[in-house]
Amino acid sequence: MEYENILVEADKDITKITIHRPAKLNALNRQTLAELNLALTDAIKSPAVGGIIITGSGEKAFVAGADISEFSTYNTQQGEALAREGQTKVFDLIASSSKPIVAAINGFALGGGLELALACHIRFASVNAKMGLPEVTLGLIPGYGGTQRLTHIVGKGRALEIILSANMIGSTEAYQIGLVNKVFEQSDLLTETKTFLSTVLSRSPKAIAAAIKAVNAANGNNESGFAKEIEEFGKCFGNADFKEGVNAFLEKRKPKFMQ
Ligand code: COA
Repeated sequence: MEYENILVEADKDITKITIHRPAKLNALNRQTLAELNLALTDAIKSPAVGGIIITGSGEKAFVAGADISEFSTYNTQQGEALAREGQTKVFDLIASSSKPIVAAINGFALGGGLELALACHIRFASVNAKMGLPEVTLGLIPGYGGTQRLTHIVGKGRALEIILSANMIGSTEAYQIGLVNKVFEQSDLLTETKTFLSTVLSRSPKAIAAAIKAVNAANGNNESGFAKEIEEFGKCFGNADFKEGVNAFLEKRKPKFMQ
C-alpha cells in the first residue's frame, strides 16, 4: 500500500513504521494518523509480522506533536472528538496490540509524539532525544492518553512536573526516571532496537501476547481517567488561552495568557 506520510518496511518478521513529514518535524496531522491506523491494523493482523518498531524520519525529530495548524479553529466538541478519535484509532490500538511495539525515539518527542511513544510497550531513545508534553504552553492538556500513560510509567510526581512545567527533558533524565528503557547513539538506535525485538520474537508469541494483556491490566480499570482527559482536553478549546497559545505558536511568538 502507498502512503504519503509514513514509510512501512518489513525486515523478516519486524515491520518498521517511520513517520515521514520531515519539513514539519513529523507532526501528526489527520492524514498521518489515518495512515498509522491502516498500517498498524494491517501489521497487527498479518501472520508474517511478529513485532513493530515506530520511529521518525531524519535525525532531528521522532514526532514534534499533533499538527497545531490543523486544530487552531476547533471548538470544545471538535477538540473532544479529536482526542477521542486519535486515542481509539491509533494510541489505544498500539497499547492493546497483541504484538510487541517498540518506539525508537530518534529526536524530539513532544506532545502527541511523546504520547505515541508512551503508548508503545517499550521505548528506546537516541542520546540527542528530547521529550516533553508542552500542551500547557498552547492552553491545552495532553489529549492522546499522556496524562494517564505518563503517570503509570513515571509516577504522579514526575508526570505532574513534566506536564505542568512543559519543560523538555533529555535522554539521560528520561532514562533515570524510567521514561525510556535504554539510550543509544543515534547511529545504533535502530539496529539495537531490532536486536532487542528479535530476542522478544524468539520467545513464544502466545506468551508474549498474554504478557502484554496481563501487564496492561496492571493499570486497573482506568477507563475513567482516559475519559476525563478527553473531556478536559475538549473544554480547553473553549478558553481564550487556547486561541492565544495556538496563535502565538503559529505566529512564532511567546503567548500572553490572562492571569
Ligand atoms: N505542529 C505543526 N507544525 C509543527 C509542529 C507541530 N506540532 N512542530 C513543528 N512544526 C513545524 C514548524 O511550524 C516549522 O514549520 P515551518 O518551517 O513551515 O514554519 C517546522 O515544523 C520546523 O519547526 P521549527 O519550530 O522551525 O524548528 P525548531 O528547531 O526551531 O524548533 C521545536 C523545534 C520542536 C522546539 C518546535 O518546532 C516546537 O516547539 N514545536 C511544537 C511542539 C509542540 O508544542 N507540540 C505539542 C503539540 S500539541
